[in-house]
Amino acid sequence: MKDLFGKALIDYQNGNYTEDLITSTNISDEDELPLPYLFRNFKDMPKLEQKALQLSKGNVLDVGCGSGSHSLYLQEKGLRVKALDISKGAIEVAKKRGVLNAELKDVLDETETFDTILLLMNGTGIFQELSQVTKYLKHLKSLLNPKGQILIDSSDIKYMYEDDDGGLWIDTNANYYGELDYYLSYKNEDEAPMKWLYLDFESLKFACESVGLSCEKVMDGKHFDYLARLT
Ligand SMILES: C[S@@+](CC[C@H](N)C(=O)[O-])C[C@H]1O[C@@H](n2cnc3c(N)ncnc32)[C@H](O)[C@@H]1O
Repeated sequence: MKDLFGKALIDYQNGNYTEDLITSTNISDEDELPLPYLFRNFKDMPKLEQKALQLSKGNVLDVGCGSGSHSLYLQEKGLRVKALDISKGAIEVAKKRGVLNAELKDVLDETETFDTILLLMNGTGIFQELSQVTKYLKHLKSLLNPKGQILIDSSDIKYMYEDDDGGLWIDTNANYYGELDYYLSYKNEDEAPMKWLYLDFESLKFACESVGLSCEKVMDGKHFDYLARLT
């Protein structure tokens, strides 16, 4: 991994903001991911994220923390937060911004336990593909204190397969429709392709039940997205 995501965060943090990240997927064209969005404060966050932060309690793990926006908010509210990311640049920036406990680590290597585990900005993306969801959920469950909770957001992206007449062109013989190949570029450099999973609520709930987690929808977002609470 070239860590272009981390490089972009470092540039923005250092005042060298000249261009945005460019993302695309196997089913969608290029789109800009504005760097300021990755440094959003509470009032600029989607309602789903605001709700997740309001529900957070106790000792918190922020998985895939990016620049640390969610961690910083909770830390300022007096909660104890540990922030993890596999992007070296992201962890460098999170620390510079003031996240006290930020670690370069894959969530699968985490062993401490927490009262709240946050996975935000399509939290299921980290699971990469449908076949890996139960592995990640089992692991996340093992990191929960008694009465702990996992707060995770995602979207049902069926709408992306709709044609102009409202018909769906999902290939039912192919893999799950939320499994995407995700491409990212920054300043004319391409990152290695990644797998990124969008998971509809019913599929998440089904996977949760198979590993002994209960899954409730906390709220729907504006565009087929939702926040779920797993206990
Ligand atoms: C879409 S970004 C979200 C960043 C941040 N949560 C936000 O809302 O701005 C997803 C983040 O997850 C990180 N990530 C991906 N897989 C991970 C893993 N297995 N363990 C920890 N972090 C991971 C990526 O490096 C990236 O920073």
